[in-house]
Amino acid sequence: MSRIGVIAGSGLYEIKGLTLKKSRTVSTPFGKPSEKYVFGEIDNTEVIFLPRHGKHHDIPPHMINYRANIWGFKKLGINRILSISAVGGIKRGLKPGDIVILDQVLDMTKNRKSTFFDGKDGVVHIDFTEPYCPDLANALQKAGRKAKVTVKKGGTYVAVEGPRLESASEIKSFRILGGDVVGMTGMPEASLAREAEICYSSLSVIANYAAGIRKQKLTVPEVMEAMKDTTEDLKKLLKAVFTIIPEKRKCLCKDALAEAKI
Ligand code: HPA
Repeated sequence: MSRIGVIAGSGLYEIKGLTLKKSRTVSTPFGKPSEKYVFGEIDNTEVIFLPRHGKHHDIPPHMINYRANIWGFKKLGINRILSISAVGGIKRGLKPGDIVILDQVLDMTKNRKSTFFDGKDGVVHIDFTEPYCPDLANALQKAGRKAKVTVKKGGTYVAVEGPRLESASEIKSFRILGGDVVGMTGMPEASLAREAEICYSSLSVIANYAAGIRKQKLTVPEVMEAMKDTTEDLKKLLKAVFTIIPEKRKCLCKDALAEAKI
């Protein structure tokens, strides 16, 4: 039976057909993960969930223990993670409710512990040319077709420190740099997964137009409402993807540490 990790906000425990089995606290050398890992089963796939903000959404993006969260998945034997997060849409044409499968990252975070290798176990420089697993991204695209959910393939995620939202000028500059969406949790989650040799792919749900694109001010209820509206589509997409992800990994993610150590 294959095992897939899903890291997301709350509200995704009711994937259609998912049988919940147990939840487990996991300890790591990097401290405590955001929450207990929840184990479920669907269509012969074991699914392990983690809500990255905690189940009561009380951990802000800059306080998430990204290292513990990814390490915990590794410890549980997970080698594939699907990530879901709310973002602001920067690129023209993206509107609230749209779902984007990411393929690139611009990391603007400042104060986060972003590696498992602080020197004691050697110095590591992983290749990050392709930040997201292309095979998982393809599976998500196919799942979109199968579940009849529209997903856009390819997008550059700008990771910001938060917790404040951006200024209009910041968004303008991100657009010039090639950013398509902006969010606060995508990094270092993606690069830590690569260091852990875990395949990682990310679905961005456009929750709002990024700052300055519309005249109105950005509000949290607007973001939450858009996420709620897309939940059904996300659940369908996830249910479909579990049957599409191939058993064997053929991508480069599984050997990320080969030739990465000094
Ligand atoms: N900016 C940063 N993070 C976000 C946004 C945004 O506009 N919307 C949802 N998460």
